[in-house]
Amino acid sequence: MKKILTLFVISLLIIQCKETPNKNAKIIERGLITSNAMVVCARPEASAIGIDIMKQGGNAFDAMIATDLALTVAYPFAGNIGGGGFMVYRTKDGKTGALDYREKAPMAASKNMYLDKDGNVIKGKSTLGAMAIGIPGTVAGLFEVHEKFGSLPFEKLIQPAINLAKKGVVVTKKQAERLNKYKKYFTEANDHTILLDKEWKEGDTIKYPNLAETFTRIKEQGRDGFYKGKTADMLVNYVHKLGGIITKKDLESYNAKWRKPVEFTYKDLKIIAMSPPSSGGICNAQIFKALEPYDIASYGHNSLKAIQLITEAERRAYADRSYFLGDPDFVRIPLDTLMSANYTQKRMADFSWYKATLSADVKHGNIVGYESDETTHYSIVDKFGNAIAVTTTLNGAYGSKVYVSDGGFFLNNEMDDFSSKPGTPNMFGLLGAEANAIRPEKRMLSSMTPTIVEKDGKLFMVVGSPGGSTIITSVMQTILNVYEFGLGMQEAVDAPRFHHQWLPDVVVLEPKGFDSIMVKNLEDKGYHISQGKTRIIGKVDAILRLPDGSLEGGADHRGDDKAIGF
Ligand code: GLY
Repeated sequence: MKKILTLFVISLLIIQCKETPNKNAKIIERGLITSNAMVVCARPEASAIGIDIMKQGGNAFDAMIATDLALTVAYPFAGNIGGGGFMVYRTKDGKTGALDYREKAPMAASKNMYLDKDGNVIKGKSTLGAMAIGIPGTVAGLFEVHEKFGSLPFEKLIQPAINLAKKGVVVTKKQAERLNKYKKYFTEANDHTILLDKEWKEGDTIKYPNLAETFTRIKEQGRDGFYKGKTADMLVNYVHKLGGIITKKDLESYNAKWRKPVEFTYKDLKIIAMSPPSSGGICNAQIFKALEPYDIASYGHNSLKAIQLITEAERRAYADRSYFLGDPDFVRIPLDTLMSANYTQKRMADFSWYKATLSADVKHGNIVGYESDETTHYSIVDKFGNAIAVTTTLNGAYGSKVYVSDGGFFLNNEMDDFSSKPGTPNMFGLLGAEANAIRPEKRMLSSMTPTIVEKDGKLFMVVGSPGGSTIITSVMQTILNVYEFGLGMQEAVDAPRFHHQWLPDVVVLEPKGFDSIMVKNLEDKGYHISQGKTRIIGKVDAILRLPDGSLEGGADHRGDDKAIGF
């Protein structure tokens, strides 16, 4: 009888164990899952065009070209042929590389071009209007990609964007709000009423016939369809009319450049990110290396300890960014030292759990022997296993707001990413030094951080974000959210983010993402908090490769972003 009773109790316990859910086991709410290919970008029209190219047999590089051109139509806020960008790739056989099609300073640019006679920065000159424009790199970049990796004819890749420009794009609620907000600047920057200078409402359709013609010239003449002939004439003549300094020679001599990406390890991840003139890869290498000795997973996602530790690593990395980084074709950057665990961990030696470090007490590190939210990111994986992370930009919203009406496109205001005057912050509050001073044909420092992550030698994640100075920290937190805190890709993208960039000495918390107790706890430790009045932090579009080889998309709900796949 005793034996029967014992067996009965054991069986009950087993049943109970099976039926009582483990309170700690978290159910992951996944985003879109597909088995072959995926595009995640800022507009569904552009994701669909990229996917369609891959359904026709194109690879991720073909899809990149088609998606990028489609974003110029569907997302003029940041999608562009009048701007520039970076691409990081990992091919199906594990080869990695990066393309720099960042804008360059015009040949007539000079170090003090944004200063008045007293040496003060002239407000707005590097951000609004013709003087703010750098030489666009996007079209050159797309042709470089096509030449090296394209498998379908270029004409086939540009045709969907031509069709979309003719057919028009339906305005979303968020897009209407943005267009109406920036309307007054369109009037200020241009000498006539531009196509977008109207009061828009959700559901309106915008057609871009002149952009369709520019695309047709590019389709017929290749990169010369943009950098020479009719399009170049339109661009240069209009910029000159508005008082700008870009010449036809600037356009003709623009070149995109293949670069070696920044690669580093974090625990058992290998992270492949954009190299200078982006600061993103190096900054994140410094942050990840500073975090590596800590068991951050045990602190909990967005916990007080996790926020403290990450903030202090960010503070030190951004202090170095401001001092050391610039265009590698013009300045020597102590890459290896900046990214070494030895250096970054020494930089963390004065970190305390009890009290915030003051940014005033943090300078750039000593290295012995050493002599801009309005961007857009997309992630693509194809059925062959090629992966691409692209971040591309006009810099500010609609760039310089200068719209080449005959050509149907905005021009960037990337010149603001240079350091106009050491110690004076740019539009993202970032400080710069001599390394990022203006020189003719130099590329301005960027925060764009297209990134690919490998785990166990296999593709793990493709990730990136817009957000000016907050790009770097958004990408880093998204990787940590998945790898350390066990979130799915969509959850990791949606999770509230925080940001610190050394100066100003504030921790920016996403509105509504952190409760008053957390704010008080941080303030008690001496952190200055900014919450509520801030813009969103990043708008991440990412793809995670799941253990069974399928792909999970993370499309940021902060925008109209969309993952599409098959
Ligand atoms: N224009 C923003 C960036 O390149 O960081």
